[in-house]
Amino acid sequence: MLVNAAEMLKKARAGKYAIGQFNINNLEWTKAILLAAEELKSPVILGVSEGAGKYMGGFKTVTAMVKAMDEELKITVPVALHLDHGSYDGCVACIEAGFTSVMYDGSHSPIEENLAKTREIIALAHKHGVSVEAEVGSIGGEEDGVVGTGEIADAGECKLIAETGIDFLAAGIGNIHGVYPENWKGLDFDALEAISKSTGGIPLVLHGGTGIPEDMIKKSISLGVSKINVNTECQLVFAAATRKYIEEGKDKQGKGFDPRKLLAPGFEAIKETVREKTRLFGGNDKA
Ligand code: 13P
Repeated sequence: MLVNAAEMLKKARAGKYAIGQFNINNLEWTKAILLAAEELKSPVILGVSEGAGKYMGGFKTVTAMVKAMDEELKITVPVALHLDHGSYDGCVACIEAGFTSVMYDGSHSPIEENLAKTREIIALAHKHGVSVEAEVGSIGGEEDGVVGTGEIADAGECKLIAETGIDFLAAGIGNIHGVYPENWKGLDFDALEAISKSTGGIPLVLHGGTGIPEDMIKKSISLGVSKINVNTECQLVFAAATRKYIEEGKDKQGKGFDPRKLLAPGFEAIKETVREKTRLFGGNDKA
């Protein structure tokens, strides 16, 4: 059943583990993530960027696909369908389309505007039973055309945004979307500790989950991170598996090919990544 993400993340925070948010781009990714989460008996969050939503034919198409697949594959673990880095209009559209969770990303606006718009989204979302993630201090790197500079969030601003009644908070602590550069300084745990203390125990979200060393993942969970977003890693393993299949000549180039066979190695690779991450985050057997 599709649920909002508030309850699963509260439990994760209390139990000192994290739930994975895995971004989806098409039917194969969705199916791989749902099946891996079911296999490991872990709650899971399907992330959809605005670009991915558009690619898949619109938010209503995404909702219909995910709901039907959840039912037909007989998925029993809690599944949240979540808008990733949403604009104000994107959040409204997703709430109307039946998403169970939205992220309003006002991190690029002045804090007063971020607070005001976040409050408006909360009022609408909560009326529909939809959970809300907000962001303070932009995440570094580039995600679907959204570029952040990787600033560290201010604990005072995090306190203000937590007080608006959001369900969980993404706060920049030196994390970056995409692959981490060689000279990356690592996560700022002093900042995370301060944010954790100032936000009254709400679940914290770590974006840019690809390529963060395991010890940093574990430490961030111990300091209040309850949701970890992974996107690039699924893209990398999907591309590598598909490339290998083609390079081995298995797509019978020139003679037509079976698209189901072509996409199968990538599908399996995503499933394996979701299994690995779920175990690392400690979400297995928590559903
Ligand atoms: P990565 O692409 O670095 O895994 O980050 C994903 C993310 O944070 C989605 O919001």
